[in-house]
Amino acid sequence: MTRPVSAVGTCYEADMPVSDQVQRQAALTSPATTIKLVEPSLDRLPGYVAALETGWSPVTTRDLSGEQLGAIRADAGTFLRDLTRREGGTITLVDGTSVPRLPTRVFWMWDGEFCGSINLRSVPGTLDLPPYYSGHLGYAVVPWKQGRGYATQALALLLPVARELGLPRVLVTCDTGNAASRRVIEANGGIAAGEKTALDHPSERKLLF
Ligand SMILES: CC(C)(COP(=O)(O)OP(=O)(O)OC[C@H]1O[C@@H](n2cnc3c(N)ncnc32)[C@H](O)[C@@H]1OP(=O)(O)O)[C@@H](O)C(=O)NCCC(=O)NCCS
Repeated sequence: MTRPVSAVGTCYEADMPVSDQVQRQAALTSPATTIKLVEPSLDRLPGYVAALETGWSPVTTRDLSGEQLGAIRADAGTFLRDLTRREGGTITLVDGTSVPRLPTRVFWMWDGEFCGSINLRSVPGTLDLPPYYSGHLGYAVVPWKQGRGYATQALALLLPVARELGLPRVLVTCDTGNAASRRVIEANGGIAAGEKTALDHPSERKLLF
């Protein structure tokens, strides 16, 4: 996956309110804005908090909004240190099990405001991942910044970081029905590599790239 392509196009959703479609279409047809990936920081935390307060979650496997808001309100500095810690710690799976957290880099997408989050996790020296990680990457864009090519740009910006960490390629997965995520991966040169059952939802399938 080496082709950093930023693309905006048209999307149609039959069950989306017309006002939302108009708003999304405006975003899709307006000139593309360049985003950057930034390290999470205290000065940018208010935008992150505002996103969490709407119920947005930085990961798709579990809704972390309430949990993270609680941690930020308890001690924002500790929250940021934990979030940006590159090694160590644990993560909690959907069934409540705590498992070791892989070395992880977390970045926020930034266009002058908080737009979303993208992270990269890997085991040094190997492409292998423990079974509880579906892939090397995870990303989510806040709903009001979607459809502007931001996730596509973010993935293009993260791939060089993966190469710096010694990963010649990465495994990226998305739900079979997640057309937007699939486009993000394909626009960055993702090559289809089959399907597997979703880790946390055995009835769902994931596409591998
Ligand atoms: C998936 C997600 C990250 C995409 O973010 P985004 O910034 O809107 O994506 P982009 O603007 O870069 O769009 C990428 C492509 O998806 C298309 N797209 C955007 N929203 C879409 C939608 N709702 N339905 C279908 N296609 C859509 C875009 O048109 C674009 O396609 P193109 O390259 O052919 O023009 C975002 O929808 C999101 O955060 N979803 C919830 C979390 C999630 O699913 N994360 C991924 C887990 S694998």
